Parts: sequence; C-alpha cells; structure tokens
Amino acid sequence: MRLTDSYGRVATDLRVSLTDRCNLRCAYCMPAEGLDWLPSAEVLTDDEVLRLVGIAVTRLGVTEIRLTGGEPTLRPGLVHLVERMSALSPRPEISLTTNGLRLGGLAADLAAAGLDRVNVSLDTLHPDRFARMTRRDRLDDVLAGLAAASEAGLTPVKVNAVLVRGLNDDEAAALLRWSLRLGYELRFIEQMPLDAQHGWRRTEMVTAGEIMELLRAEFTLEPMPGRGSAPAERFSVDGGPGTVGVIGSVSAPFCAACDRVRLTADGQVRNCLFAREESDLRGPMRAGADDEDLAQRWRHAVWGKHAGHGIDAPGFRQPQRPMSAIGG
Ligand code: GTP
Ligand code: 5AD
Ligand code: SF4
Repeated sequence: MRLTDSYGRVATDLRVSLTDRCNLRCAYCMPAEGLDWLPSAEVLTDDEVLRLVGIAVTRLGVTEIRLTGGEPTLRPGLVHLVERMSALSPRPEISLTTNGLRLGGLAADLAAAGLDRVNVSLDTLHPDRFARMTRRDRLDDVLAGLAAASEAGLTPVKVNAVLVRGLNDDEAAALLRWSLRLGYELRFIEQMPLDAQHGWRRTEMVTAGEIMELLRAEFTLEPMPGRGSAPAERFSVDGGPGTVGVIGSVSAPFCAACDRVRLTADGQVRNCLFAREESDLRGPMRAGADDEDLAQRWRHAVWGKHAGHGIDAPGFRQPQRPMSAIGG
C-alpha cells in the first residue's frame, strides 16, 4: 500500500538526509559557528538507511530517491551507499542535492555507482560575494564540481539559486546567461522561513514575481506545459532550447500537488518541510521492529500531512529544525 495522505496525495519522492553537517555556512541558512550537529550515535548507519529506503521502494511505492543534507557529500562512504541503493529492485531514480564543493572529485565515481543526476546550489558568480554569502572562499570548487557533473553525465545538471535582497539580486540575468551557455538548468528559489537563526522576513524575501520581472527585462520567457508535481514553474528562454525555473515556494506554493516525504539523518519521517511533528523510525527499528511494522508507521506518518505549509496563515510558526537538518 502506497504513502497516501488524507487529501489524496501520494508520496513517491523520498528525500533522504544523510547528514546535518555542512562545509559552507550560508548566512541565510546557519550562523558562522555552525550548529549543534547530531551526535553520531543518532545518525542512521548505512545499513539502516538502506533498510528504510528498501522498505520505501518495495512496500510503499516510492520511485525517486533524492539524497540531501546538510551537505550529503560529507557522508563517508557515499559512493558505496549509492551503489547499494541502485541495486534495489525496483530500482529507484537516484539524485543528489549538493553545494558542489566536493563534486569535482566525486562525480565520476557517483555516476559509475548509479547516481542519475545532481542539483547544485549556487547563488553568485562573483568570488567575493560567494565568500561573503557562504563564509567560505570556494567558488572555484563549485564551478569545477559542476563541470565534473556534466562530464560524468549526471544530467540534466540543475543549479539552484536563492536571491537575497541587496546581496545578489542584481545577478539574476547574469546567472541565467551563464547557465544557458554551459547547459545547466537554472532555477531560482524563493527563500523560505527555514533558517536556523529565525531571521527570515516575508517583506524582505525576493519574490517569484520580482524574479520574473528581473528576467523579463532581458529575456523572452514562455511558460512550459507539463509541470506535474515539480516545484519549479519552467519557462523556455528566447525561444528555447534553454529553460529557466522559478520555485515560488512561498508566494505560489505547490503543496496541493506535493508528492514528497522526508527522512532525516536521525531516522525521523517528516511529511512536510514545515511539519509540526516527526515520526520516529530509528527507535522502533533499533528495538527490532520488522519491515511491515516500519512500513505501517511510515504510512501513518504520511496520512497526517497537512494541506499546505501555511506560511501566510495567521499564527504561523517556523519549524524548530532548520532546513540544513531536515534536508532541502
Ligand atoms: P527535481 O525537481 O527532482 O530536480 O528536484 P527538487 O527541485 O525537488 O530538489 P532540490 O533539492 O533541488 O530542491 C530545490 C528547492 O525546492 C529546495 O531548495 C526547496 O527550496 C524547494 N523544495 C523542495 N522540496 C520542497 C517541499 O517539499 N516544499 C517546499 N515548499 N519547497 C521545496
Ligand atoms: N529557503 C529556500 N531555499 C533554501 N536553501 C537553503 N535554505 C533555504 C531557504 N531558507 C536552498 C539552498 C540550496 C537548496 C538545497 O536549498 O540554497 O539551493
Ligand atoms: Fe548553505 Fe545548504 Fe549548507 Fe545551508 S545546508 S549552509 S544552504 S550549502
């Protein structure tokens, strides 16, 4: 039986966070000193991750696995984990969301292990801005990582960019020109209230509408059909074949079509980024629960998913866990 919620949505896309740690310190995500990382005893082992992903694929109808973090390439043994995941039957599609710093050295091995594609986060093409926004001077590593991912066939390579007012909101067109030239599929993401510092302000967020205006000043954009459950609304640029996406998570939520469920690095099911509750699978698993028991807990967790994130509703409160600990 599949992962259905009480509104009739079916979760087929499992996002698995492999670690809450990160090797960047993006100012809109976490403080310079980092966070209190999960103790390693609480993080699922490779065997535990594999067991839960196996249950999702064989008993719960999950067809896509996205590996996230924190920064998933910090997980020791990532390549082997991907290899084991791609041996599951039925084989899920496997993708990775990464900041790209380590991709240069990993892309070929990940592709050989069975990784299908990558989404790489990059907000600016200026080295000094990159260093200011992420607090690490590593732009060149990201660019090398992107090139290696293309080279290894981890395509389509998508680039995720968050625009922050006064920091990089003058770079929308430049990022798009660069992506079109190198064959990356660029998506702009509205910033969500998921930062560890709880500093997000609705009035400061660069909206999807503003992003469209910035782009339309320089390009002709035509909406593309067939969005399905994808978070991004996609547009062809100047008659194609290049495209750009805008993920208006806040101002134009895609919750009604959401097909996602999340597993945190410490083995908790979250039915939404903004879920108020989590369902523990690690505890029961370590106490000896069998596969059907775990599957049943998972179904129960998804059934209770809310209709939407409610960011604009009165009384909205940001979830306790920040994005870096939930998985992006
Ligand atoms: P594909 O479309 O399969 O390539 O992946 P994706 O866009 O789902 O994955 P990615 O990890 O690149 O996510 C991009 C951004 O979409 C994230 O940073 C979030 O901002 C947003 N996003 C992803 N999942 C959700 C979700 O469940 N809810 C909301 N509101 N936003 C999400
Ligand atoms: N809102 C939207 N996107 C965010 N990201 C990190 N924090 C937020 C947030 N609060 C982005 C990263 C990366 C992706 C995984 O999520 O920039 O592109
Ligand atoms: Fe930046 Fe992502 Fe790391 Fe947060 S988890 S600091 S957004 S790279």
